Amino acid sequence: MTDMPLSAYIAPKGFERELATELERKKCMVRARRGRLFLCEGAPLSMAWAQNVWLTPRFLPARSIKDAASRLMSMQRNWALHESACREGTRRRAALIEAALPHVSRKPVAFGDAAPRAPLGAWTMWEADCILASPQCASPFADGEAFFEENRTEPPNRAYLKLWEAFTLLPRRPGSGEYCLDLGASPGGWTWVLASLGARVVSVDKAPLSPKIAQNPLVEYVAGSAFALNPETSGPFDWLCCDVVCYPERLLKTVRRWMESGNARNFVCTLKFQGDTDHETAEAFAAIPGSRLMHLSCNKHELTWVLLACA
Ligand SMILES: C[S@@+](CC[C@H](N)C(=O)[O-])C[C@H]1O[C@@H](n2cnc3c(N)ncnc32)[C@H](O)[C@@H]1O
Repeated sequence: MTDMPLSAYIAPKGFERELATELERKKCMVRARRGRLFLCEGAPLSMAWAQNVWLTPRFLPARSIKDAASRLMSMQRNWALHESACREGTRRRAALIEAALPHVSRKPVAFGDAAPRAPLGAWTMWEADCILASPQCASPFADGEAFFEENRTEPPNRAYLKLWEAFTLLPRRPGSGEYCLDLGASPGGWTWVLASLGARVVSVDKAPLSPKIAQNPLVEYVAGSAFALNPETSGPFDWLCCDVVCYPERLLKTVRRWMESGNARNFVCTLKFQGDTDHETAEAFAAIPGSRLMHLSCNKHELTWVLLACA
């Protein structure tokens, strides 16, 4: 249908407006929007508010269920149907094509296991006789959504899932003996993750840690404000993790101070938006060389910014 390269971006549920604004700010030409899918002209760009990016989408005829399935299988084995973009009235047809494709496991991931390595393509029923399919996608998970075998007994809340997902996607995670600073640590979900990896953790919050977390010999609790710490004299740390509720601008200032001090090597920080999304500050984070800004499956009106030290 076209020779122009295409790319497609899937918005996280409920954050379609954020992705639309980001695409506009990055001057991406949106050719069509269907549900959570934005089909754009041009090669794929890094997009913080995309839960998944379809890197090589193309239109394929789908003359029959069998025809559609065999066209997909001729490219590769593993495919995930993206439903929100299916043309109205085609869901049943899409389900039949999906059933004709090889089964792809959606089993929850056990933390510690690597993310799936087999290429996972994505497709949707663009018209009754045409599918939009991308054999390559940015995320190893269907629709970019990671599901874990949850631990419902040890962590004090579900915030730990953000770190589990980040450390599953990243090439590195804290290890035994590394020294972590956890800012905004209460009640202790992130601290629990870091300590369970064998790292020593300094957990800072005005509010206390849950007693079970505080008793861990690897954990030292410091009561007070994360912003009162002087990076020049408080480090060095291998990892700075920050989940403090604050304006992203304040977080940016704090991160810059820590970067300038050279006393934090790796960063994992949550940008929490209150009211309108602060796209300008998000862009300032994304522009920090070597860093990555992403929307994790468990992020709400938030983004996760990561900077890893050069190996
Ligand atoms: C979303 S919660 C953090 C959850 C935590 N990461 C976990 O896994 O359990 C945000 C925390 O930021 C803390 N906070 C807000 N302002 C702070 C500040 N100036 N200094 C330190 N902590 C702060 C709050 O007390 C709250 O515990």
